[in-house]
Amino acid sequence: MKFFIDTANLNEIREAHELGVLDGVTTNPSLMAKEGIKGKNNVFAHYKAICDITDGDVSAEVIATDFEGIIREGEELVTIDEKIVVKVPLIKDGIKAIKYFSKNGIRTNCTLCFSPGQALLAAKAGANYISPFIGRLDDVSTDGLELISQIVQIYDNYGFETEVLAASVRHPMHIIQCAEIGADVATCPLSVITSLLNHPLTDIGLQKFLADHKKLNG
Ligand code: E4P
Repeated sequence: MKFFIDTANLNEIREAHELGVLDGVTTNPSLMAKEGIKGKNNVFAHYKAICDITDGDVSAEVIATDFEGIIREGEELVTIDEKIVVKVPLIKDGIKAIKYFSKNGIRTNCTLCFSPGQALLAAKAGANYISPFIGRLDDVSTDGLELISQIVQIYDNYGFETEVLAASVRHPMHIIQCAEIGADVATCPLSVITSLLNHPLTDIGLQKFLADHKKLNG
């Protein structure tokens, strides 16, 4: 399973990269706004800075919602770096644009997926990644993990190569359950990735090992 970090914060991306388990980065317009990145030049420079930290794919989202606008933005975004994957919303013009990009060798991440039918359309259009938002489904009393299972099953049935990128991941159990189901990628905040480290028996065990060593060696 690949781990992507879901942030536009350069320090967090650096920290995850230094941990040695980072496979890529996802951003969205809200995450860019959180870092105060505005204006095309600054936005492009920020994506470049992200690409310079990570070895993996970097999802950069278009703002346009019409076919021509999405194509124009996507074609500009991929000039930043070869790691850029164009993130396209799951709307009618978005699906048309994903088809266009896939025919023209531009990689895409289809975002804002909340149903298996949407995921099927994205795969048929040739998306490289589909991003089902599990936390936001959980927020409205709908089982986000069930959606991951449905998409994995549908893609397996027909051999679609679109990778299932579990998004809106809120806690470590989301990651574990996505891994059990067979999602290809989980994108999460740094705090959720590092929370996988935590176990009280690890802390207690380490304290005891060090104390026993100290007893003998001073
Ligand atoms: C996915 O690519 C999105 O950026 C993200 O996972 C959304 O997460 P949120 O629901 O926590 O905002």
